[in-house]
Amino acid sequence: MELSNEGSEDWWEVEALYDLCFAPGRSSLSSYRLREGVPPISGLCLLARDHGILAGAIRTWPVRVAGLPAALIGPVAVHPTHQGEGIGGFLIRTVVDRAEAHGRVRLMLVGDAPYYGRFGFKRLEGVEMPPPTNPDRVLGVGDWDGIRGPVERALPGWRAAGSG
Ligand SMILES: CC(C)(COP(=O)(O)OP(=O)(O)OC[C@H]1O[C@@H](n2cnc3c(N)ncnc32)[C@H](O)[C@@H]1OP(=O)(O)O)[C@@H](O)C(=O)NCCC(=O)NCCS
Repeated sequence: MELSNEGSEDWWEVEALYDLCFAPGRSSLSSYRLREGVPPISGLCLLARDHGILAGAIRTWPVRVAGLPAALIGPVAVHPTHQGEGIGGFLIRTVVDRAEAHGRVRLMLVGDAPYYGRFGFKRLEGVEMPPPTNPDRVLGVGDWDGIRGPVERALPGWRAAGSG
């Protein structure tokens, strides 16, 4: 299995994997509204390939919560023929480690707590994704103490300003 950063040439291959792994209409999820028109964080968008064939992908976007920068992980998906082999876990752990190494101290995602709990993600009380998101699925890891409020789109130029 080879790990690489996603490049612009990989975009549609990753989209096809997400289409395969998620229910139709995934882009109508509220989390996509936070991503529209915002470039992802390139060093936190990773691919796992098996002899060149895409087996798993993870993307991460900048967002802000209570005026502070945070990183929204997702989507993450592993091809059905490779699920349960540890690829998803490897991608998530790598993103968390890299984000922390780059000083991104607040990571969040929308997902199943029983899966993401093993990577340290916990329910974020009072951090609100755009509706209709089940609050039990809003999870985070890092420095979230006392931070509450709606999750908003990142401001232009934030990455250049050192938020990741
Ligand atoms: C969820 C997903 C990314 C996990 O990747 P993966 O490579 O299959 O996962 P791993 O091999 O790292 O981990 C497998 C373990 O996670 C568990 N698991 C997987 N999805 C889970 C879920 N939604 N809830 C709870 N546990 C889950 C498996 O039961 C397995 O448990 P075990 O270690 O006790 O056997 C992958 O299954 C996938 O792409 N699913 C479809 C798309 C999706 O649902 N994405 C996530 C949105 S929240």
